Amino acid sequence: MSLPLGPGLAGTRILLGISAGIAAYKSAHLARLLKKTDAEVRVVMTAGAQAFITPLTLQALTGEPVRTSLLDPEAEAGMGHIELAKWADIILIAPATADLMARLAHGHADDLLTTLCLASEARCLMAPAMNQAMWRHPATLANADRLRELGWTLLGPDAGDQACGDVGLGRMLEPEAILTQLLAALEQRPDKSSKAMCVHQDLAGKRVVITAGPTREALDPVRYLSNHSSGKMGYALAAACAERGASVSLVSGPVTLATPPGVDRIDVTSATQMLATVEAQLPCDLFIGCAAVADYRAAKVSEHKLKKRDDESGLTLELVRNPDIVATVAARPDRPFTVGFAAETRDLETHAGSKLERKRLDLIVANDVSREGVGFGSDDNAVTLLWLDNGQTQQQPLPIQPKATLAGAILDHIVAHLP
Ligand code: PMT
Repeated sequence: MSLPLGPGLAGTRILLGISAGIAAYKSAHLARLLKKTDAEVRVVMTAGAQAFITPLTLQALTGEPVRTSLLDPEAEAGMGHIELAKWADIILIAPATADLMARLAHGHADDLLTTLCLASEARCLMAPAMNQAMWRHPATLANADRLRELGWTLLGPDAGDQACGDVGLGRMLEPEAILTQLLAALEQRPDKSSKAMCVHQDLAGKRVVITAGPTREALDPVRYLSNHSSGKMGYALAAACAERGASVSLVSGPVTLATPPGVDRIDVTSATQMLATVEAQLPCDLFIGCAAVADYRAAKVSEHKLKKRDDESGLTLELVRNPDIVATVAARPDRPFTVGFAAETRDLETHAGSKLERKRLDLIVANDVSREGVGFGSDDNAVTLLWLDNGQTQQQPLPIQPKATLAGAILDHIVAHLP
């Protein structure tokens, strides 16, 4: 892999924090890569990190003494911890363990690294690394959200084999990928003072097509079949993709939402129009089918308003199947990474899992729309991600949160799995 070395980080003061994960051995390579960019690199290690890699290794690679203790009189006589906090342009923690994330999310300052983070105005990034079950735990996911709110940029985690033998999401990104994503994040927001708007451009150069909202299937000139989708979830995804640097086409059913900045929106009404419009937007790198597409439409749309009969007899409508948009996209030879949603009112994981396989999707976002306060029309949502890994279905619940934040968490997963 060729690295974007050179002026990007030259002269930048990077404080590399290392916490107690097995991935700490990769931090030595990361320190080397950072040095190659002509950045100034100083390393701070937690007590636990030193069980995995020695300070001497990092000292040899950076040419600087490694700091490990908050209460070290010798170190405080030189560059004290507040000076070190002020010195840093960037704080990059790799690996960031679940425990460190929890402490940082709650503002702890019980060792040198957490104290520095609290005392510094540097741009803060971290590469989480932990067992897949620990990453999926709602406490960790809530901490990750809190850290993003506090201005941290999370790089990864990555999916794949783990040192403990598990397979899943949680391993640290490779050092080369950390460096690439660090540079992309800095390009997005080069100033180091404000932590408020950190968004990393991990979808830069990607083309994304998203469907959102309901479809309307005409019965006659004044009536139609539809559903309660407001479009909020799909629009939140489109906004998040654009913020992360993607070129986004949003194929939208009838909704009353404003178009997110930087998004190209195309309005449609029916499922067949939605399919034709989506196909005209392909190929793309990522397709997200968030729309609540009607499964059926009227076999024949009446040219004139259907009249109520004078007698008491009912009305029978003949419906025919609509094409399945997400399955059509997934079946193409040039298929993008294809993500579907599943709106279910019972047996969520079973039905979503079967849609994942039947529609040949890379990921399905299962949505229990029977729950109060989530799903159709609400500002919040809670979902479970399902995907296949070596033929085994994997799951990751994402707790209730605003649709805008949830969109970010769904994209974190997608980015980690995109080819
Ligand atoms: O719009 P909001 O008010 O914010 O609500 C969000 C939401 C509940 C609509 C959203 O989170 C959601 O769950 N969207 C999918 C709704 C749906 O149609 O689910 P489904 O289980 O019927 O369909 C499964 C998948 O197939 C979906 O990706 C759907 O877009 C797709 N599909 C379905 C039928 C069809 N003919 N073509 C399709 O592409």
